[in-house]
Amino acid sequence: MTEDAGQFYQQLAQDYHLIYADWAKSIQWQSNVLDRLIRAQAGNPPLEVLDCTCGIGTQAIGLAAKGYRVHATDLSPAAVERAAHEAAAYGVDLTTGIADVRRLSEQVEGTFDVVLSCDNALPHLLTDEDLLLAASQMRSKVRPSGLLLVSIRDYDHFIQEKPHATLPDVFEGPEGRRIVFQVWDWHAGDQQYTINLFILRQAETCYQTTCYSTTYRALLRSELSAILQQAGFADIRWYMPQDTGYYQPVVTARPV
Ligand SMILES: C[S@@+](CC[C@H](N)C(=O)[O-])C[C@H]1O[C@@H](n2cnc3c(N)ncnc32)[C@H](O)[C@@H]1O
Repeated sequence: MTEDAGQFYQQLAQDYHLIYADWAKSIQWQSNVLDRLIRAQAGNPPLEVLDCTCGIGTQAIGLAAKGYRVHATDLSPAAVERAAHEAAAYGVDLTTGIADVRRLSEQVEGTFDVVLSCDNALPHLLTDEDLLLAASQMRSKVRPSGLLLVSIRDYDHFIQEKPHATLPDVFEGPEGRRIVFQVWDWHAGDQQYTINLFILRQAETCYQTTCYSTTYRALLRSELSAILQQAGFADIRWYMPQDTGYYQPVVTARPV
């Protein structure tokens, strides 16, 4: 993760749920999809799951509610603190910790049946070296019969058109209307782009605007597959949204 991404999530942690129409519903449906994928490939709860880029707990809370024993870690202390707080509010048991996905072997104890990293966290790592380090560290946390599960944006699609913006989502909530969209600035000469995430909140006479910015690598599926293989994973399978109902491509892999 670059320094700017660290700052991005520190600041965004309190607002992160606002990018969803209904965060509680997202927790529910995401865990339904992930639960199906995990059961099909790794077995039933109570399996032990490490969500190593948990953010505020979108996947960790839903899986814990389904009976998985979840350890939720992230590099952002503010995100981890909120994940712990939200888990308590949802009445689910999970443990949390602050850890860099590139340093899991020293920062997280033990091994897990499932290691999970969802919603485009790995593309914060901009170089092949960092991605290989993260993949090797995730490999070190998966039990021999266990499963890795990662989701990233469909960059094979986006790289063709290099879109400059997402369409605005307009949400009506108890605190008024909010409008959420992203503007993407593609860097010349490489596969990176800076996103500017805008959240506009309706106030009495105007909209209050917050903008958060960070840089991603447009990581292609073939690139991630090659890195996973190099890190000691095999049986690498991609699942597209039309197959799973998830909103991003998902890759699963097993230790060699
Ligand atoms: C898009 S958010 C997704 C969070 C969560 N999975 C969700 O869907 O709500 C990406 C997360 O990856 C985390 N992250 C980025 N780089 C990381 C790193 N090197 N180690 C651990 N976490 C990292 C960020 O702090 C952020 O919480």
